[in-house]
Amino acid sequence: MKLVDPPGKAKGKSSAKTEITASPGQSLPQTGRQEIIKKCPINPNLVHYEKAYQTFDWDQARGEVDWFAGGKINAAYNAVDRHMSDGRRNKVALYAIDSRNKLSKLTFQDVYEQSNKLGNALKKLGVEKGDRVFVFLPRVPELYVTTVAIAKIGAIAGPLFSAFGPDALRDRLQDSEATVIITNPELKPKLDSIRKELPDLAYVIVVGGDESKLGEREYSYEALVNAESDKLECERMDPEDPLYLLYTSGTTGKPKGVVHVHNDIIGHHMTTRWVLDLQEDDIYWCTADPGWVTGTVYGIFGPWSNGISVVSYEGRFDADSWYNVIDKLKVTVWYTAPTALRMLMKAGDEAVYRHSLASLRHVLSVGEPLNPEVVRWGMKVYGLPIHDNWWQTETGMQLVANLPCMPVKPGSMGRPLPGVYAAVVNDDGEELPAGELGRLVVKPGWPSMLRSIWRNKEKFDEYFRIPGWYFSGDNAWKDEEGYFWFVGRADDVINTAGHRVGPFEVESALVEHEAVAEAGVIGKPDKERGEIIKAFIVLANGVTASDELIESIREHTKRQLAAHAYPREIEIKDSLPKTRSGKIMRRLLKAWELGLPTGDTSSLEED
Ligand code: PRX
Repeated sequence: MKLVDPPGKAKGKSSAKTEITASPGQSLPQTGRQEIIKKCPINPNLVHYEKAYQTFDWDQARGEVDWFAGGKINAAYNAVDRHMSDGRRNKVALYAIDSRNKLSKLTFQDVYEQSNKLGNALKKLGVEKGDRVFVFLPRVPELYVTTVAIAKIGAIAGPLFSAFGPDALRDRLQDSEATVIITNPELKPKLDSIRKELPDLAYVIVVGGDESKLGEREYSYEALVNAESDKLECERMDPEDPLYLLYTSGTTGKPKGVVHVHNDIIGHHMTTRWVLDLQEDDIYWCTADPGWVTGTVYGIFGPWSNGISVVSYEGRFDADSWYNVIDKLKVTVWYTAPTALRMLMKAGDEAVYRHSLASLRHVLSVGEPLNPEVVRWGMKVYGLPIHDNWWQTETGMQLVANLPCMPVKPGSMGRPLPGVYAAVVNDDGEELPAGELGRLVVKPGWPSMLRSIWRNKEKFDEYFRIPGWYFSGDNAWKDEEGYFWFVGRADDVINTAGHRVGPFEVESALVEHEAVAEAGVIGKPDKERGEIIKAFIVLANGVTASDELIESIREHTKRQLAAHAYPREIEIKDSLPKTRSGKIMRRLLKAWELGLPTGDTSSLEED
C-alpha cells in the first residue's frame, strides 16, 4: 500500500487521518502550472458559471418540468407526452441505426403512441404501480419505447445490459422480485436457463421472432401492442415514487439495486442543458448502453425531456463505424467514454480524416479517468476539447463537470454544478483544503440522488455514514480554482473500460467452475481499458493446470457473468492470502501485482 503525500501542504491534524492509495498512472496533486484549454461552444446554455453557482437553487428548476395537479409528476410524461403540445410532435426523437446499418426514425409522436400501447398491454397483464419490469434488449427502438412505457404506468424500470449472462441476470431479477421482463429471441436463452429460479417472474415479452415458438406465459411484443389503444393517461406519481432500479457493483456481495425516483427528471433536465449543452437543432449521440446509468439518464430521459433528437447505434465498436455514425447523421453533440476515445486514438488520425466530423460542436466523456493526452489528441483531430465530467449510478446525474462555459483542465473532472456542493474530506468528514487528497463527498439534496438501496437499508446508510455528506467511494483532490481531480476508488471496485465490476461477483462466477477452489480478483492498471480484471485462483484438488483449462475458466466467467466482466489475466497460486476470518486480502494481491509494499499484514491467516 502506498501512502501518497500531497506536495507542499501543511500536515495539519486533519490530513493525517486519511490514508489514500493511488495506483500508477492516476492523477496526483500537481504544484506546477496547470494546462488549460479555452474553447467554448458558441452561445452555451449556461453562460456564467460563477453567477449561477452563487444564485441557483433547485427550487428554481421545478418550473422547467411539467407537473400534474397536487404536486404529482411523471418522468416519462416529461420525456415524451409534453412534446405532443409544444411543437415537437413531428420532430425525430430517435435515429436508430441497427446492427446491419439500417436507419429508422421515430418521432416523438411515434414514441408517444408506441409507449402508450405497450403501457396499456402491461396494465392488461396486471402490471401495477411499483412492480418491477426489466428490459433486456440490445439497442433497438423498442428498448427506448419500453423504458418510457414502464415509467408511464408507474412501474419501476429495470435496465439490463444485453451482454449480461445468466448469473448477472439471476442476481438482479431475484433480488428485485421482477414480475415481467422484455427481451428478444437472441437473448432469451440466457433467461430460459435460469427461469426456474425466478418464481416471481410472471411474464416474458419477446420483441420479434416467431410467435409459435413462445411458451407458457410468454407473449409476442408485437401481438400485445397491436391489440392496444394508443391513448394512455400517464400515472400521476408522487415525486418520491420509484422510476428506475439499476444494479451496480460494490466491493462486497452481489450487485445492489440503486433506486431512483420520478423527481430525478429535474436533475436530468437541467444537467442535460448545462453539461451536454443540448440545443433545439442538435443531433445528439450518447454511446452508452441504456443498461448502464449513462444510457438511461443521458440516452433517454435527459435529452428527451429537453425535446432533443437522440441517436442510437446497435452495431459494434470500430473507428470507421463510429465515425460513420457521426458523419451520416451529422451528430453535433457526442457523449462517450475514455476507453472508446483511447481506442479511437489508437486507430489513428487517418481514421478521423477518412470521414467528415465537421458537424461536431461539443464532445464529452464520462465513467473513468480521461488522460490529458487524449484531450490533447482530441483538440488536434476533432478541433474540440473533450469535456470530462463525474457522476455515478447512485448520484443519478452529473455532479462535477468541465462545463462548456469554463476553461477545460485536461485530467480534471471539472467543477461542481450549480446547486451541488462537492468537497474533499478526511475519514471524519472534515473538509480538507485545496491540494489535499481525501474522500470525494457531496452535500445531499440534489434532485436525482439515490433514494434507497432496494431492500438494503444498511448499504444505503453506508453512503451517509457521516451526517451531512454522501460518500461517493472515490478519492480525489481539489485545486485552488475548485476543479476536482480523480485519484482512485477508496474500495476494491474495478472500473474496466468504464464498466463498474465488483470483485465478489467475478470471484463467485470463478468458483462455480469445477476446477476452481478459491479465487481473488483485482483491477490491474491497463493503458487502454483503465483497468483489466485479473484473477488469482487456487485449483481444486487433483486438477492439473493447462492453457485449455485457463481458457475454459475464462469462457465460463464470460458466459455466466458478462462479456466485459471476465478476467483477462488468470494466475494460478498454491494459496491466497486471507485474513484470520477467512476473507481474501485483495489489497495484498494488488500490492503483489504492482510490486508495491505490502503494508500491515498482521491480520493474515498465513504469513
Ligand atoms: O470511480 C468513479 C468512476 O466511475 C464510478 C461510477 O461508475 P458508475 O456508477 O458505473 O457510473 C457511471 C456513470 C458516470 C465513479 O465512482 N468515474 C465516473 N466518472 C469519472 C470516473 N472516474 C474518473 N473520472 C470520471 N470523470
